Amino acid sequence: METHRRGETISQATAQAGANIAFVKYWGNRDDALRLPLTNSLSMTLDTAVTITTVMFEQGLAQDVLVLNEQVVGGEALTRVARHLDHLRQLAGVSWRARVISRNTFPTGAGIASSASAFAALTVAAAAALGLSLSPRELSVWARLGSGSAARSIFGGYVELHTAARHEDAWAHPIAPPEHWRLADLVAVISREHKSVGSTGGHRLATTSPLNVARLAHVHTALAQARSAILARDLEMLGDVLEQDALTMHAVMMTSQPSLLYWEPGTVAVMHAVRRWRQEGIPAYFTIDAGPNVHIITEPAHVTALQDRLRELPFVQDVIVCYTGAGARLLDVSTPTTPSPT
Ligand code: PMV
Repeated sequence: METHRRGETISQATAQAGANIAFVKYWGNRDDALRLPLTNSLSMTLDTAVTITTVMFEQGLAQDVLVLNEQVVGGEALTRVARHLDHLRQLAGVSWRARVISRNTFPTGAGIASSASAFAALTVAAAAALGLSLSPRELSVWARLGSGSAARSIFGGYVELHTAARHEDAWAHPIAPPEHWRLADLVAVISREHKSVGSTGGHRLATTSPLNVARLAHVHTALAQARSAILARDLEMLGDVLEQDALTMHAVMMTSQPSLLYWEPGTVAVMHAVRRWRQEGIPAYFTIDAGPNVHIITEPAHVTALQDRLRELPFVQDVIVCYTGAGARLLDVSTPTTPSPT
């Protein structure tokens, strides 16, 4: 694991953040470099799908080092992390390089977006290690530069990310805390294969779909309904909105140029099964991110029955269960009493 010589640690911090599942999703950016989304989005932070990240700024380190789930990682992942650290280093006025040690408590490729929890945890840990005192809103603004959905993972419970024309105005805020309403997200794993077009590339294609305009025109209504449903703890109302929103987002994906078809036969089989079970009286609704795996949103009382039914379906490889979770938090920090020169 240790491929780079250790220097003296200047400062370090560890933070954790949960992934999230969007009920009203964003697809497409008005500014790709700043990750300013085309629309607001609204999600639920997840409890057991967590990333824990330690950022150690070290004397004499020539470049940033990334260790992900005990493997030293280079390439695009390291570049993205280093670029994110650059923003925060610039804010703090230092040039120290960092060793970033990160692990997920959930399997990669399981259909849970690790970029949200990863960039939320990285932002909180790096900001603390750099001695930056940022408000949760500011942390969400900076986390957004790493991954749009990461802005939402700064907060727990039900969270809305606001779009804006300027970087500093596009922040997330919680609309209800986790204890307001405990919902479950069962992830039916259909495939663990790495998707060919990830969300960063996919966002660039949104505006090439003729259906994107229709989705943008409707999203305000969807957001208003989702907010009301959450505040009223009305799963039927929320379920209608989240299923329709996932379908409209996938309609945009499928009709972009080039077309993105994330669904597999198993994806469709689970969608049909969820609707069948609903007719039988189990309140369950599906949503799907940029991949083939299906998230089933329900109340805790129905988790066991749904888990059993999902496991019986031939295409389902695994079922991961998460509940409404808390926001990102700092676990540990040690900063120098006298700041070192850059
Ligand atoms: O945050 P990103 O760039 O990984 O994009 C997230 C895209 C979706 O998961 C499909 C939608 C969303 O709002 O989470």
